[in-house]
Amino acid sequence: MSGTNPFPDPARQAELYGHASRLAVRSNALMRAKIFGRPVPDTIVGLVRNHHERPDRLGLALDLGCGRGTSSLAVAQELRPRRVLGLDAAPALIEQALQRVRRLPSLPVSFLQGDFHHLPVSADSCDVVVAAFCLYHSPRPQTVVAEIDRALAPGGLAVLVTKGLDSYREMDQLVAAAGLDPGAEQRESLYVSAHSSNLAELAAVSLDVLTVEDEEHSFTFDGHDHLAEYLATNPKYDLAPGLYGNPGALAATLHEFVPDRPLSTKSLVTFVVAQARGGRS
Ligand SMILES: C[S@@+](CC[C@H](N)C(=O)[O-])C[C@H]1O[C@@H](n2cnc3c(N)ncnc32)[C@H](O)[C@@H]1O
Repeated sequence: MSGTNPFPDPARQAELYGHASRLAVRSNALMRAKIFGRPVPDTIVGLVRNHHERPDRLGLALDLGCGRGTSSLAVAQELRPRRVLGLDAAPALIEQALQRVRRLPSLPVSFLQGDFHHLPVSADSCDVVVAAFCLYHSPRPQTVVAEIDRALAPGGLAVLVTKGLDSYREMDQLVAAAGLDPGAEQRESLYVSAHSSNLAELAAVSLDVLTVEDEEHSFTFDGHDHLAEYLATNPKYDLAPGLYGNPGALAATLHEFVPDRPLSTKSLVTFVVAQARGGRS
């Protein structure tokens, strides 16, 4: 992978999310490395409980860019809204989310393939809209925020989540030091389109921002083998052919060029809680 930033490029989403296993392997490697930071779905649930006027009587909750449905299921289980709809552009991830919910038939959760720039819901219909770690995939995140505003019912709440621009920069340093991608530290952040420092501003174009919470998450990867499970599908880097998608080959190259030791890194996670302008209630 190389060239322009793949994250906000719609034409490259199939590379990133065409197979559910890529996201699962990356997420598992990252979660195994986590040493500090609350589970994001739990924080989303807590923010709705704290900021929604009637969190015990929610109607429709919409989870945009729901991926494998982790936040959708947490919202359904913890907040018990009348219905949860997860929306994602990637058919492979929707299929996996559907498989997960089939094991929990009592939950009123459905998943739909779609584009978050055109929400398949009527105006004023949602009590909650979640957009976690997905707005940075839009070249026009303000359009998605305008759609969220249209979808929110009076008193409804949006919870938007993203990462800081320089998240995981220790990985960039290691990738450059190992010669895997000498330009790694100069590459544009994957999160440039919607990140910790501009998310509240983006939200405020259409919505009233109620609160912004930053939380630093810390990770320690055991060593090269563990790190390679995450790095091998990181589209940020210009890796030699044969390394992208191949954790074994990537780990072997790391072992050859840099001493094998744990790698500690950080990511700022930012939560923006907002509602329709003027409360619309
Ligand atoms: C990093 S994953 C986040 C998944 C989930 N929200 C979570 O927190 O684990 C980003 C998701 O955004 C989805 N996505 C990207 N562009 C999208 C679009 N235009 N409309 C809907 N979903 C999109 C991807 O398919 C992917 O599942």
